[in-house]
Order: sequence, then structure tokens, then C-alpha cells
Amino acid sequence: MSSSFFIKTFGCQMNERDSEIIAQSLQQHDYVEALDMDSADLIVLNTCSIRAKAEQKVMSLLGYLRKNKKRNPKLKICVAGCVAQQEGKALIERMPHVNLVVGTQHINQIPALIANTDKHSQVATELKTDYQIPRFIPETETHDNWEAPQFSGGKRPFSKFVTIMQGCNNYCTYCVVPHTRGREVSRMFKDIVDEVKVLVESGVQDITLLGQNVNSYGLTNQVSDDGSACSFPQLLKKVSQVPNLKRLRFTTSNPKDLSHDLMRCFRDLPNLCPQFHLPVQSGSDKVLKRMNRKYTMEKYIQLVQDLREYCPEIILTTDIIVGFPGETEDDFQKTMELLEIVRFDGSFSFKYSDRPGTSSVKLAGKVDEEEKSRRLRLFQNRQNEICLDQNNKHIGRIYEVMVESGSAGKYQCRSITNHIVHIEAPSIFEPGSLISVKIHHAGHHSLQGKVL
Ligand code: 5AD
Ligand code: SF4
Repeated sequence: MSSSFFIKTFGCQMNERDSEIIAQSLQQHDYVEALDMDSADLIVLNTCSIRAKAEQKVMSLLGYLRKNKKRNPKLKICVAGCVAQQEGKALIERMPHVNLVVGTQHINQIPALIANTDKHSQVATELKTDYQIPRFIPETETHDNWEAPQFSGGKRPFSKFVTIMQGCNNYCTYCVVPHTRGREVSRMFKDIVDEVKVLVESGVQDITLLGQNVNSYGLTNQVSDDGSACSFPQLLKKVSQVPNLKRLRFTTSNPKDLSHDLMRCFRDLPNLCPQFHLPVQSGSDKVLKRMNRKYTMEKYIQLVQDLREYCPEIILTTDIIVGFPGETEDDFQKTMELLEIVRFDGSFSFKYSDRPGTSSVKLAGKVDEEEKSRRLRLFQNRQNEICLDQNNKHIGRIYEVMVESGSAGKYQCRSITNHIVHIEAPSIFEPGSLISVKIHHAGHHSLQGKVL
């Protein structure tokens, strides 16, 4: 009888895509997906360590799973992803009920490694410096083909992530990513385009290209067989021309590498959705310098102005860290001022937390937790008001939205601007259907529409 697996994914879209790859490799080795965690023979936690809170969530679930293991000693527990990469063997020492710890560059090996855990726990976390992102369609079974062919199906079969690069070379001082995901490596240009073609031919309509900093795609390694250069805007253009691709998106970008070529894509490529996530992190030049972000506030504001000139309807979102070491009240107020100048359509905001191995751990001027919470509250309250103002502007507009979930009566859909749009309709719409709606109500985080 085949064994069953359950994957719990924490963190970013990169992890969501990795979890699909893990699921697929397990299915190729005769595992079947369990309906829930409690009935699985193998539990895989695909983890995130970007902030302390994300890691705490993983640790508390792992602690809880001790009970499952007692109940069922044959249960296998695998920790994959960034916490696995960061902790390595230490994780098994702290959590002896864990069978396997697999780092970010070894997820394709889970089926083979788990088979060897009957007597001993296993750890695979070596980050290879000469790491090559493999070809899309694996030529042999033996190499690290963890950029496996895509899953057809999944929870959102009409919408897929395509990883275009791994790792990051920027070393922002607070960020654990360069330590957990290794050096930046771009995938071959042709492999990405081929993968998108296959997906679209199988019915996918909405593609999001993924990388830690897509703007530096193709800068650190060869991405074509003949060695010719290929930038991210060139890749976007090529992907956007894939016949029948309805919606193209990408994430995420570091403002320091944002070129006018990329901005022009929003004006020129009809299926590139008018939404842009451009993490700013802080409104203070002093803090940005201590974060090693390599741009100033003035430069960021100029980028936003240019972007809005190319594409006036663009929806702009950002990430903010409050309470970075050395951030004074005056620095924080500069972030609040930035909010008034840019008026983001949405933002993800976080209290700074020390991450293992990052250089900001050693910076002086740590801000206490209470003060960080106060700043976060102030920021989020104001951002929420701005979100509502921005969302109100969509009232009366007509959008083609894609149905994501729901059943006759109520549906949750997504617009090209990436807004969640709730609709009420007696008709039956399959997930992935495109329907025209008129927006009649706006909330802080979603819109409501009437089917036309
Ligand atoms: N503390 C708080 N927030 C962080 N982020 C990354 N590292 C940290 C940290 N140490 C936030 C940044 C980044 C987002 C993915 O997570 O805002 O853009
Ligand atoms: Fe982290 Fe900076 Fe790289 Fe983003 S660009 S992943 S914040 S090091």
C-alpha cells in the first residue's frame, strides 16, 4: 500500500512553488496526498525564517507534532525550507522526533532521503557555491532536477508560479535570505519560456514569475546557450508573447535595480498586470543606508513618479520594517511622510527582528518591543486609511475578474490589479472563469462587484 504525505507551507510564494515540487516528487515515488495532517504517514513542513515570528510558528507546530509521533511511532516528519537550512543538525538535536532536515537546495531528494530514515535521522543542508539551476525538462534522473516540470492541477490550476531565479546577492543587513537560499542563480531563458508555454497550453491563464530580486535576472550567470545576455525586461517581453497568456505578473523587485526598460513594460505589454510590489523598507536615508539598500528616498520617489507616468493606473504595494536598529522617532516619521507622498495601495509591515547570521544583529540602537509595536500600529492605522481611499477610487469601474473560489451565490475573484473582488451571483462559475463586473463597494482590503 502506498504511503500518504501532507505538506504544510509557511512563508512566501517561493515556498509555495517549492511545496508543489515536493508534492510532485513524492507522487512520483508512489506517495499519495493525505487529506489532513493527522492521517498522513509523512508530514513535511516547508518552513520560513524571514522573521522571528515566522520561525516561532514552525517551532510551535513541531513541538505539537511530538504528540502525533507518540501516537504513531511510524510517522515520519521532515522539515524543509529556510528554517531547515538555517538550523541543520541542531534542529534534530532540539527536536529528536524529526526524521529529516532538508535545506533549500535539496528538496528534490526528499523521497530518497526519507527512505533512509528508518534507523537514523538525515540532514541535507549543504549550500552549493557552484549551484546550477537545472533544465526545465530533466534529461536524466540523477541530477538536481528540483525545478521539476509543473504540476497540472493543484489548488489554483488556472494560476501558477514560475521560478526564474534562486537566491540573493544583495545582503540587506537584516535579511536571512542570502544565508538560507544561497547565491543568486538565474534559470535559462529558454527553459522559463518553454515552461510558461506548457502551462498556458494546459489551461493556465495567470502566471507569476518569481525571484528574490527579479530585476537582477540574468546578471550573475549565463542564461542562454550562446552566451548572449538577457535582461528581465527582455524575459518579460518574451513571456508576454506566449499565445493565450491572459495575465502576467512578477515578484519581487529591489528598487535599486529598477530600470526604465522594466517600467516601459507596464505601458507596452498588454497582458502584464498593472500591479507592482516595490519594497521600500524605510523612509529614512540613514536607516536605508544601515540596511544596505543602496537607494535614497529621493530616488525611490522618483522611481514611483516615473512608473506612474508610464502606467497611471498601476497599483503599488510595498514592504516596511519598523524599529530597525538605530531608527529614531525622527526616522520613523520619515517613513510616515513617505506614506503620504506615495500613497501605497497596500503594504506589508513588520517589526524588525534579529535573524541568525545577518549583520544587523550586531548593530547598536536596538528599539524595544513596545516601541516597535507602537510604530507598527501607527503605520498600519494610517496605511489602512490610505488603502480605503485608494480602493474607493475603483468604485464605478468595470473590471474583468477571474473567479478563484466560491459556489453559486458567492464568489471570490481577482482583478488584473490584484484586488480581491467579492461578487454575489446565482450563476455557476467555474474557478478560472473570466467575468465582467462593475465595482460598487470598497473595503480596506477588498472590493465588491456586480456581474454585468
Ligand atoms: N525583520 C523584520 N522584517 C524583515 N523582513 C525581512 N527580514 C526582516 C527582519 N529581520 C521583511 C522585509 C522584506 C519582507 C519579505 O520581510 O520587509 O521585504
Ligand atoms: Fe533580502 Fe535584500 Fe535580497 Fe530582498 S534584496 S531577499 S531583502 S537581501
